[in-house]
Amino acid sequence: PPLFFSTQTRPSPIPLRLVGSEMCIRDRIGSVLTANLGKIYGHSNVIATDIRECPSGDFFKGPFEITDATSYDQLYKTVQKHSIDTVYLMAAMLSAKAEKQPERAWHLNMSSLFNVLNLAKNGHIKRIFWPSSIAVFGPSSPKQLVPQTTVMEPTTVYGMSKLAGERWCEYYQLHHAVDVRSLRYPGIIGWESKPGGGTTDYAVDIFHKAVQGKTFSCFLKPKTQLPMLYMDDAICATISIMGADKNQLSVRSSYNLAALSFTPEELYKEIQKKITNFKIEYKPDFRQSIADSWPGSIDDSVARQDWGWQPAFDLKKMTQSMLENLRS
Ligand code: SER
Repeated sequence: PPLFFSTQTRPSPIPLRLVGSEMCIRDRIGSVLTANLGKIYGHSNVIATDIRECPSGDFFKGPFEITDATSYDQLYKTVQKHSIDTVYLMAAMLSAKAEKQPERAWHLNMSSLFNVLNLAKNGHIKRIFWPSSIAVFGPSSPKQLVPQTTVMEPTTVYGMSKLAGERWCEYYQLHHAVDVRSLRYPGIIGWESKPGGGTTDYAVDIFHKAVQGKTFSCFLKPKTQLPMLYMDDAICATISIMGADKNQLSVRSSYNLAALSFTPEELYKEIQKKITNFKIEYKPDFRQSIADSWPGSIDDSVARQDWGWQPAFDLKKMTQSMLENLRS
């Protein structure tokens, strides 16, 4: 069946015309997910969208439609045109960027979700994937091994939009039988795209600086522990939950998901084992308080039990893979 993939972002790190367009948010996972779904379902069955034209390339081999995910009509037209039955809605503004433009972030993150939920409610599509985030947790949540169900009082716009989104996903499932599936992504680390406005993105940028032989200026303090996930594991988790039997899913808001937890200092030391002259300096900025409001580690036992989630990458394996791929 045709699949539909909405990023509202840039499926490739290649500079594009209309850079600086207000809705342009560089995507971190969308391009890689598109490529992997294409391999599974056939590239012609995965439709990528963005709010503007995108170049084709290694990540992007299938059909493409310019579609604004904040417009129900535009989404509806694209869905009808390609007989789309599943939407992966990756359009979002991440935490650090959202703090700079709170209302715009809220609008993008919420209206795109409502549009897609309503497409399903109105019978135009069958299934939705929508990512939530560790940002749903706040200062009053447990700091370590935060459980699936706990106090959630996020203090960032991004976290507030994700928590509200989770409640709406469950609501549409309960009241309109919408099959929407969701994961609370930790920081996602991949070599395929550059950092995109997230607080966890220091852990992507550090690798780019390391292979370029530059000193890395870290916007977080050395001992700031955050939950992270290697891109390959993130893709695997997304495809797994979408393939799971409906009856296996006990959580219809969003699943805790975990793999790694480390600090900038620990990551730096791991990279330094491979690049001995690599240097880091610490210059914490406004993103430190965002990171401080989030947990250091996540208990994802419900995801493991329900649909067999199991990450494959630890810190060492991830570091090796990042450096190898960025070098080549
Ligand atoms: N990676 C996200 C961010 O830092 C958190 O989910 O905004």
